[in-house]
Amino acid sequence: MIVVGSGALHLRDELAALGGEIGGIEIRKFPDGEKYVRVLGSAEEVTVVSSTFFPQDEHIVELLLIGDALRERGVENLRVVIPYFGYSRQDRVIREGEPISVRAVMRALGLYYDELYVFDLHNPETLRFFPGKAVNLSPAGAIADYFAERLGEGVVLAPDKGAFGRARAVAEKLGLEYSHFEKKRISPTEVEMRPADVDIEGRNVLIVDDIISTGGTMIKAANLLRGMGAEKVFVAATHGVFAEGAVERVSQAVDELAVTNTIPTPVSRISIVPKIVRL
Ligand code: R5P
Repeated sequence: MIVVGSGALHLRDELAALGGEIGGIEIRKFPDGEKYVRVLGSAEEVTVVSSTFFPQDEHIVELLLIGDALRERGVENLRVVIPYFGYSRQDRVIREGEPISVRAVMRALGLYYDELYVFDLHNPETLRFFPGKAVNLSPAGAIADYFAERLGEGVVLAPDKGAFGRARAVAEKLGLEYSHFEKKRISPTEVEMRPADVDIEGRNVLIVDDIISTGGTMIKAANLLRGMGAEKVFVAATHGVFAEGAVERVSQAVDELAVTNTIPTPVSRISIVPKIVRL
C-alpha cells in the first residue's frame, strides 16, 4: 500500500495509474495551524511518499505524524520515499554552534521508518545518518530518455566538478561524450570557466545538475557555451527548487529547461514515478 503525503499530491494519479494501491489519508489543519493526520487503511507493508520542499518543516512534521499513525495501526514494514529531501544542503557545520540539519531530519525520520529512499541527494554520504536502510536513487535514465532525441550526437556537461558523476550517468545511458566545467584562475580577480577537454563548437549540449535554485549556475554555463559556438543548449536538473523568477530566467537563456517531478514546477516534465513503483 502507498500512502501519499502533501508533498507528493502531484504524483498521486501517476502512482495510482502505474499500479500502486493508494491508501486513504485525511490531512488537514487545526485552527491554530497544527496538522491533523488520520490514515484510513493499513497493511503489513506500507510505503509513504512525500517530498519535503516548501513548506519544508510542515512536510517533515507530517511525515512523522503519518509514521506514528501507521505504527499505531500495527504496520510492520514502513518505507518512506522522499523524492526531494529538504535540508539536504545543510550537511556540515560551517560556523560553530550550527547543527548538521540533514542529520537531525534523518534521525527523526528513523524513529518511525525502516527504509528511506531519496532521489539524487545533494551529498549521498549523509545517508549514513539514517539509522535504517537508506538508498539514493538516480534519475539519470529518465533524464537521458527525455533528452535523447533533442540532443542527438551532443555532449553532456556538469556545471562543476562536483556534479561530474551526474553528467557521466546521463551520458553513459546515451552513449555520448561527457565532461564538466572547470574553473581556472587567470588573475587575482578573474576566474575563467570553461568545459574541460571537450570541443562543443557546433554541437548540442545538455547541462545536468542536482538542484537549480536561483538559476545563476546554469545561466552562466549556458551563456559561456553559446559564446563558444554551441548549437543548442539544454538544461536538466533533478530538483527544481527555483527561487522567484528562476524558471523564466533559465528558460530564456537556453533552448529547453526540464527538471524531474520530485518538486511540482511548470517545467517538471521528467517523471520519477516509474522508478518509485519499481521499488
Ligand atoms: C550546488 O552545490 C548545487 O549542486 C547547485 O549547483 C546549486 O544549488 C545551484 O544553485 P543556483 O541555481 O542558485 O546557481
